[in-house]
Amino acid sequence: MRGYFGIGCEGISKAHNLGAMMRTANAFGASFVFTVNAAHDARKINKTDTSRTIKNLPYYEWDALADMRLPQGCALVGIELTEDSIDLPSFKHPNNCAYILGPEMGSLSPQMQARCAHIVKIPTKFCINVSLAAALTLYDRTLSCGGYPPRPVRPGGPDLAAVSDWNVPNLSKK
Ligand SMILES: C[S@@+](CC[C@H](N)C(=O)[O-])C[C@H]1O[C@@H](n2cnc3c(N)ncnc32)[C@H](O)[C@@H]1O
Repeated sequence: MRGYFGIGCEGISKAHNLGAMMRTANAFGASFVFTVNAAHDARKINKTDTSRTIKNLPYYEWDALADMRLPQGCALVGIELTEDSIDLPSFKHPNNCAYILGPEMGSLSPQMQARCAHIVKIPTKFCINVSLAAALTLYDRTLSCGGYPPRPVRPGGPDLAAVSDWNVPNLSKK
């Protein structure tokens, strides 16, 4: 998969949600994780993040939006249910980006939304848990950018004879 991504939260209030998000980010291959206005005790984060992301990846804790420093060329992508958000299944993920999610009891701040290059929503009837929203976003990135071939017409797996044509990282081609 080309490029890299980071993922973070603004104002998240529960360390276990942050830990769940970090564990998912680590599992999907994040290059960095971050919080904005949401510092939490590492021991509490690690209760749900058994992969110990903050020991293994860069972790930025920015006190405020004004302190946030993303790498050059890294697009900020807001994940938020707003009227104007782009539906995730029709969104083209930037190669290099940072996804930002909002707090449990609110939404991404208007200032953060204004800073985003894109805002994307997951097509649900109402808000879902923030760490689950992170997982679905990263799964969608993997599905759409991971080099998988189109799905077969018939139920079941793909034609294994074509496996050598795929470009899926870490895929065993036995
Ligand atoms: C539980 S929601 C926040 C509460 C919600 N704003 C409300 O009105 O009750 C926490 C965060 O998860 C993300 N989120 C949850 N469901 C989402 C969805 N369907 N699409 C995009 N983001 C979502 C957003 O980042 C949101 O700020």
